[in-house]
Amino acid sequence: MDKQFAEDVRKGLSAEPKYLHSKYFYNENGDRLFQKIMELDEYYLTNSEYDIFENQKSELLEYFSPDGRRFDLIELGAGDGYKTIVLISYFLQKQAEFTYIPVDISRNVLKKLSNTLTGNFPSLEIHPVNDEYFHALEELNKVDFDRKVILFLGSNIGNFREDQAILFLSHLAADMTHDDRLLIGFDLKKDPDIILNAYNDREGVTRDFNLNLLTRINEELDGDFDLTLFKHYPTYNPQTGETVSYLVSMKDQHVRIGALDEIFHFNEWEPVFMEVSQKYSLPDIERLAVNSGFSIEMNFFDKREFFTDSLWVLK
Ligand code: TRP
Repeated sequence: MDKQFAEDVRKGLSAEPKYLHSKYFYNENGDRLFQKIMELDEYYLTNSEYDIFENQKSELLEYFSPDGRRFDLIELGAGDGYKTIVLISYFLQKQAEFTYIPVDISRNVLKKLSNTLTGNFPSLEIHPVNDEYFHALEELNKVDFDRKVILFLGSNIGNFREDQAILFLSHLAADMTHDDRLLIGFDLKKDPDIILNAYNDREGVTRDFNLNLLTRINEELDGDFDLTLFKHYPTYNPQTGETVSYLVSMKDQHVRIGALDEIFHFNEWEPVFMEVSQKYSLPDIERLAVNSGFSIEMNFFDKREFFTDSLWVLK
């Protein structure tokens, strides 16, 4: 049993209001469901970023290494690498000298990615790191002397609250030199219906993805959540740009978690906060860069301008 998982669940379900940590979404079934989310029509984020990579890979390489010097391509939260493979394949074709360092919290996903990459690109130098973002960076800084190009894609930055995002980015800044680059994916503010649908797909994959965390608690922590008594409820606030997903208890109920030897009470219609996915305007992005010690070198957009990959340098 994972002690940290148990402790975080105890904290979150004892808190007022209740929450669960989204980093625990990604067990094997969670990985599979997230994979399905990325393939949904409604989930435009992945396609938008893919479009940027496909259409602007040569500009990206120019910006990553203007002088052609060797670099480390470090991807935080690499996942299945679906989008990054476009870049890797192009960079190899252009004989750019680089090492790919995918970092992911999911061992399962990271293994698959390494296998795919070494299979398809025998000449690729690859060093997978199975860890959380912060730990991984600390480790990398001990061994790393090449220019760093850090990728933080998929609008994963939006899963942090603003203060946490600034803290995280400032940490990154502290680990970078003026030669290094940071490419961050931001989902842009747009038609609120398009945004909400991305987190409320017709098939219910996003619902299952959220509910899967309750299944995981049932399986790994001996919980007795009844999944039919919780409702997936995503919201989008066009003013703040926050998409927030909740699981709402549909009745007054008690849930016992054996591993914690505790019973948690849920009021009728009490929400459990699951995750935030922040949406940004260009001024929002500018402010975030300045507040964490960066300046924006270039913004890359997809055709529909739904998304931007923003290239940052130290200020
Ligand atoms: N960071 C992406 C987003 O906010 C991917 C993601 C993380 C996601 N957690 C999610 C997508 C939960 C759907 C549901 O959209």
